[in-house]
Amino acid sequence: MVEPVLSVEGLSVRIAGLHILQGVSFEVAPTGVTVLLGRNGVGKTTTLRAIVGLTPRGGEVRGTVRMGARSLLARPTHRLVRDGLGYVPEDRCVFAALTVAENLRLAERRGVAPAYDKVFALFPELERRGRQRAGSLSGGQQQMLAIGRVLLNDNRLLLVEQNLAVVRRLATDAVVLSAGKVAWTGDAQELLLETALTKSLLGVGSAEVHR
Ligand SMILES: Nc1ncnc2c1ncn2[C@@H]1O[C@H](COP(=O)(O)OP(=O)(O)O)[C@@H](O)[C@H]1O
Ligand SMILES: [Mg+2]
Repeated sequence: MVEPVLSVEGLSVRIAGLHILQGVSFEVAPTGVTVLLGRNGVGKTTTLRAIVGLTPRGGEVRGTVRMGARSLLARPTHRLVRDGLGYVPEDRCVFAALTVAENLRLAERRGVAPAYDKVFALFPELERRGRQRAGSLSGGQQQMLAIGRVLLNDNRLLLVEQNLAVVRRLATDAVVLSAGKVAWTGDAQELLLETALTKSLLGVGSAEVHR
């Protein structure tokens, strides 16, 4: 692989005495879309939260995570964000009481020209609904807003928690977790076409993946 944009080596996370991640290693190529997959509870969210420095208090994180030459694990989350790491959690976290435009404005970063044209080209709905309260958007529209916020800034790497229905067309590479360990890595589209693999690794048939 050419120089990865992210490399994770031997990532282990213990929370409340549970060994949730047990030595997870994978790389993310600088091009394409790498998806982290696996059944519920295998450790996907724990992996992303560890990478961005948001492991719950008292959790113990070991291993190495590098974005380019920079080592991430010892750095506070706000520094990682400033250095170009964007994270969209699964629960979206939009400010429900604020309008769409206000939510976007809050994501602007000092010293970076916000790329509204890019965000509105991708999600025209966000421009049309600028004055609507975010809490009154549909789930899908809130997801657009959450992604729009990180796209405003010129990030080197985006970590987006999404369901498979949304990412399956974009996915180029896949990393599959099973019980806190990497169970499979390879071409995402090959994986999603292999019913036997998706059944054993993801617990769904490929028909369900492609629905
Ligand atoms: N704060 C926590 N305290 C205790 N256990 C946790 C905590 N967060 C996650 N876990 C456990 O870690 C495992 C992995 O969770 P998670 O990373 O959320 O999985 P996924 O995102 O793949 O569904 C699950 O068994 C979950 O119950
Ligand atoms: Mg999760």
